[in-house]
Formats: sequence, C-alpha cells, structure tokens
Amino acid sequence: MGEFGWMNDPNGFIHYQGQYHLFYQHYPYQPAWGPMHWGHAVSDDLMTWSYLPIALAPDQPYDRDGCFSGSAIEHEGNLYLMYTGHLIQGPDKDRDYSQNQNLAVSKDGIDFQKYADNPVLGPEQIPAGASLKDFRDPKLFVRDGIYYMVLGSNDGEGKGIILMYRSDNLASWTFAGEIARSDGEMGDNWECPDLFELDGYDVLMFSPQRMPAQGDDYNNLHSTAYMIGQLDTVQGKFGYDSYHQVDFGFDYYAPQTTLDDKGRRIVIAWMETWETEIPTQLGHYWAGAMTLPREIIMDRGALRFQPLEETKAYRRNEFALSDISLEGELSIGATGNCYELEVVFRADEAQSFGLNLRVGEGERTTLRYCAASEKLIFNRELSGIGPGGERRASIKLHDGLLKLRIFVDLSSIEIFAQDGEKVMTGRIYPSEHSLGISAFAQGRCDVVSFKKWDIQV
Ligand code: FRU
Repeated sequence: MGEFGWMNDPNGFIHYQGQYHLFYQHYPYQPAWGPMHWGHAVSDDLMTWSYLPIALAPDQPYDRDGCFSGSAIEHEGNLYLMYTGHLIQGPDKDRDYSQNQNLAVSKDGIDFQKYADNPVLGPEQIPAGASLKDFRDPKLFVRDGIYYMVLGSNDGEGKGIILMYRSDNLASWTFAGEIARSDGEMGDNWECPDLFELDGYDVLMFSPQRMPAQGDDYNNLHSTAYMIGQLDTVQGKFGYDSYHQVDFGFDYYAPQTTLDDKGRRIVIAWMETWETEIPTQLGHYWAGAMTLPREIIMDRGALRFQPLEETKAYRRNEFALSDISLEGELSIGATGNCYELEVVFRADEAQSFGLNLRVGEGERTTLRYCAASEKLIFNRELSGIGPGGERRASIKLHDGLLKLRIFVDLSSIEIFAQDGEKVMTGRIYPSEHSLGISAFAQGRCDVVSFKKWDIQV
C-alpha cells in the first residue's frame, strides 16, 4: 500500500545499489486517482518496504497533468527514470490529451532531477497509423549496448498495439517498429508493455483494455496477457504464435518486471482493476495495493509464477495436519487473516473439493476444484463488502494431486496452483471477525497435507 492516498501501477521496479526500488503511480492527497506522482519505496528483501520521498511530481509544462507510468534503468552508475508526461489539451479531459516521454536522473536513488531537454520523445515521432493520444508507459531495456523502449498505444480503430524505439544515449530516440498488434479480439488499447529475455526467449507482457472474455478467460474489464517469441531488434519485429493470460483472478493489472542481482526475473502488479468498487475509498485514507512480487519461470513454452524464497523467512507458528480423509466440511483448527497456506489434495473420487477462507457469520471466500471441468474456481460472492463474482482457471491434477500455495493478507488472496502453473489474485473485504478456515469435499478426497503459517507483520 502507499503511505497515504491512491496507488496504481508499479513503476521503475529495479535492483539498484544493493536495494530493490519500487515506484508507483500515486496521488498523495486523496484515496482517489488524481494528477499522478511517483511514490517510492525501497526494500532489502522484497517483503519489508520503507517509504522514500515522492520521486516525481507533475510540475513542468510537459507533465503538468500527470507523471504517468514508466520504468527505471541504471546508466553510468546513476538511476534513470523514463516516464510519460500527460497533458490535457481541450475541454474533454478524457479525449483531448497528448502524451510524451521524459527522463529524470538520480545519483543516490532518492532525489531525482528532471532532464533539461524533456520531453525526449514526443507525439511528432509517432508513426503513421498509431494513435496521436495514447502513447505511454515506456519500459526500457538494453540489448548489445543499445537502449530500447516499448510503449503502449492503439491504431485508433479499436486495436491495441506496442511500439518500439531505440537510442544510444537515452536522450534521443528513433522509431524501430510496431512489434505487436491486437488480432481484433484483444482489446482496443494496450497499456504498460514489458519486454524481457528469459531462458533464450523474449517475452512481451502487456495490459489490454476492454479485451472481450474468451470463455472463462479474460473475464475482467481490463486484462493482462503475455506472448513468448523472438525479438528482432534490427527489423523492429517480434515474432510470436499465441498469447496467454497472466493471472486468472479478479485484480491484477499493469505488471512490471525486473531482473535482480540473483538473476531472477521478478514481476509485481497492481492488485486492483480499473472501474470497480474500492471500499477503502470510503472512510480510509488509502486505496490500491501491490501483489506479492513473483518469480517468473519459463517452463515448456509457458510461464509459471512463484512466490519468492524470501516469503519463507516470514513464516511463524507452523500449524500442520496430514492424511485426512475428507467428505463434507471440516473446520480446520486454525484461524487468521494474514497467513500462508500450503495444501495438497488427492482428488480420489470427489466431484469437487477445496477450501473456505475468511469464514465468519454468513461470510466465506471459496476455492473449489471441480474434477469434471478441471477448473479451480475462486468465488468471492460471500466474501464481505466490495465486488463479488467468480473466476475459473483450467488446471490439471498431477498424479491425482492438487497443490495450492495461498497468501491471505487482510484484504487480499493470492493463489499459486500447481507450483505456479496458474495464479489467481483477488481483493476481498470480510469482517475482521471472519477468520475461520475449512476444507470440504463432495464425495471423498484426501487432504495429503495442510500447512499454515502466520505471516510475521
Ligand atoms: C495503467 C495506466 C497507464 C497510465 C497510468 C496512469 O493502469 O492507465 O496506462 O500510465 O495508469 O495512472
């Protein structure tokens, strides 16, 4: 969470001079979106964070209506931020705007100076056929000593696109190519692209707006997707075959990755979705939070997402059960609102089985595995206040087993199924008294092992 007020996208995620830095879209005066600033926090282990002073505020002619999303890179020992300046240029703020890209630099990772010749990339360098308004969210990377930037945009006719630019010095940029485009089924504008190398492949991750649902997939108004392919930096082209959803829950948007000093590719996302109810906006002084950072693993042509090793150092009060034959509902003799679970089910002949979390009077959040449809179903209809609904992820049992790692943290649930083959994230707002945990089965199944740890706070 931000220190106060509003938070949306993660920005400038980087390991710099021995610490993890995370910046974020931030409105520091109200728990509501407003002219964007960049909030800033640092961490030694990606778990415990300290706030630093706000890094960027909208105070220049080229960014007066907001310092929108962007990224960070180290160059000659200094920390560079590249961000979008947002400018409202007419009476209708939702239609009459333009966007440009700007640099800011810091020697100590705390105080940032905006570059004197900003913007470094403006609308005059938008190629024919791309939107003249939506030109935002620069993600920087370097290949063979040359800097590249990917940007989110659209073709003005209902298809999201990603543009790429190149530079020798971060300050002057030339257009390199349009590297991806919606096939017409993938949303009308693409935001927050990220392009990174993993195990010899290139991965393009982005956030399509208003992508229509495909069966149980892409059921949120705005989604996140990735493609695995090869980037041709010379031709400015990215070849890929198919795309995949990143997270199958309710609240996961604008993910950004970084490579750390241990060689891990780590992703963090805004745990929220635009245009949904956020109960903390009423009577609280904050809105928006980040997901746990997750390590990305390349596994047989798809990505897996795993909790970091660092989470284990925060485990307290282990509670363990094993080999329970289950039919009906069993209240587990452990409770809480900030904990980790590691549960292995053997399906046996059960038609469905799962867990109820944050159980209290009339409240429960249900994770149910349905054997016939091979779906894990995350239901928050009875979770408490705030948005309800249900999301489903296709998951195959492994030798009859379903393994779940789950992080419950006051108003959130993050589910890692089958070692991160599928992840599901959602906000929930139960009563503070809804602390129960139960396991259930229709038909008989086996709880091979159930472990719970409180998370030290
Ligand atoms: C994504 C986004 C970005 C933009 C920022 C503004 O959530 O819409 O495209 O830069 O939020 O806060």
